[in-house]
Amino acid sequence: MTQVRTCLSIILAAGEGTRMNSSRPKVLHEIAGLPMIGHVVAATQAAGSGAIAVVTGNGADTVRASVESLATDVEFYVQHQRLGTGHAVLAARDAIERGYDDVLALFGDTPLVTPQALDTARKRLSDGAAVVVMGFRTGNPAGYGRLVQKDGALIAIREEKDCDEAERQINFCNGGLMAISGAVALKLLDAVGNDNAKSEYYLTDIVEIARKQGLGVEAVEVPFEELLGINNRAELAQAEAIWQKRRRQQLMLSGVSMQAPETIYLSHDTDIGPGTTIEPNVWFGAGVSIAKDVRIRAYSHIEGASVSTGAEVGPFARLRPGTEMDQNSKVGNFCEIKKAQIGTGAKINHLTYIGDASVGEKANVGAGTITCNYDGYNKYRTEIGQGAFIGSNSALVAPVNIGDRALVAAGSVITRDVPADALAFGRSHDQTIREGKAADINKRNAARKAGR
Ligand code: UD1
Ligand code: CA
Repeated sequence: MTQVRTCLSIILAAGEGTRMNSSRPKVLHEIAGLPMIGHVVAATQAAGSGAIAVVTGNGADTVRASVESLATDVEFYVQHQRLGTGHAVLAARDAIERGYDDVLALFGDTPLVTPQALDTARKRLSDGAAVVVMGFRTGNPAGYGRLVQKDGALIAIREEKDCDEAERQINFCNGGLMAISGAVALKLLDAVGNDNAKSEYYLTDIVEIARKQGLGVEAVEVPFEELLGINNRAELAQAEAIWQKRRRQQLMLSGVSMQAPETIYLSHDTDIGPGTTIEPNVWFGAGVSIAKDVRIRAYSHIEGASVSTGAEVGPFARLRPGTEMDQNSKVGNFCEIKKAQIGTGAKINHLTYIGDASVGEKANVGAGTITCNYDGYNKYRTEIGQGAFIGSNSALVAPVNIGDRALVAAGSVITRDVPADALAFGRSHDQTIREGKAADINKRNAARKAGR
């Protein structure tokens, strides 16, 4: 989607979002772990918009800090009084004045818009339209501005409060987003007044204004799912579901198998290679990359981890940030891994905690092994060598190194380094056997019970 025309995107984000009942500015509520406004920024960047201006108001500093952490080269304008969408776009007057071929007016609370839809609208501008409105059809148009057409041509957008009875029946609605020719944008916006039911400066009025000036005005129809505007947390959840479904679909079509796709939760940046299978009920947090031909088994919880080709995770595994699993390695049920590198072909199959560690190639970590990485103040590392074998239920007290091919006896508490090829016992003392003692104890207990 490379267009030669220059483009400025103005993202409106000054609204209060009262209906979210939240101390957080509305546009910072997340979908797939990314603030809504981050989705809008990404979509417009993908549609080739070089310049992005965000109009803030409510929670301006918080919104700005969040957007700056997601994207560079975004400029910010503050709309001090919220006098309507037309007024809000004009807060970015300085940016518009620099001169762009295309100006996109976007909403920070309409996060599902796709680069394709923006691209389509921009193409209409390059074909000569002055204003392109993104509309959708719905059986329930209540609350939306209506696209008023005459002989198939868009002549006005009427906000619901300003509609007459006939206009209220129209089910072709304004999604709110628009593409405006940069050459006429300021002229149109400056002509917007506030003579309407809400006494606001409506961006939507530029449709009628452009018409009157003999300029081309068009509507492009976009699926409702792309123009959903988020006003409350129920709509946020609806948008989340749409986003998840869309992304799962993309991944499946690219070669990822999902047996129960609707039970898999993805993050905005989850990357999964072809040939990989994701079993039901798997949760992905931010920063996960899964290579090809991996199997992620049911009920695993994965964030900040990278998993290489041929590896297997779960069922019921937890990979925390900083986990790197090399090729064909395995982390099995009820294992937690944090900030650790698991070497090629290494196996950690059952009930284990590995944190701040490296596990060598083909090492085998037995059931119940714990790296004791924290003393309440500081964290320490555990290094396990290639081909090492850690017996079940061992505590490796960090900092500690287990050499290549070393053996750690089951039930050991290891506090000192183990050299390569050595066997380490770290039990408190050798096992003691007292012949016949169990029978004595049982007899005594049975007598006690009978005497009660
Ligand atoms: C707007 C449209 C309506 C459309 C609907 C789609 C106008 C006049 N109306 O109505 O036709 O059907 O979106 O969802 O454009 N904002 C500011 N400053 C302001 C006012 C709004 O930044 O002074 C921002 C809001 O934060 C929000 C966006 O603009 O992101 C839309 O504003 P909102 O008040 O939600 O408009 P709607 O009444 O939903
Ligand atoms: Ca709205």
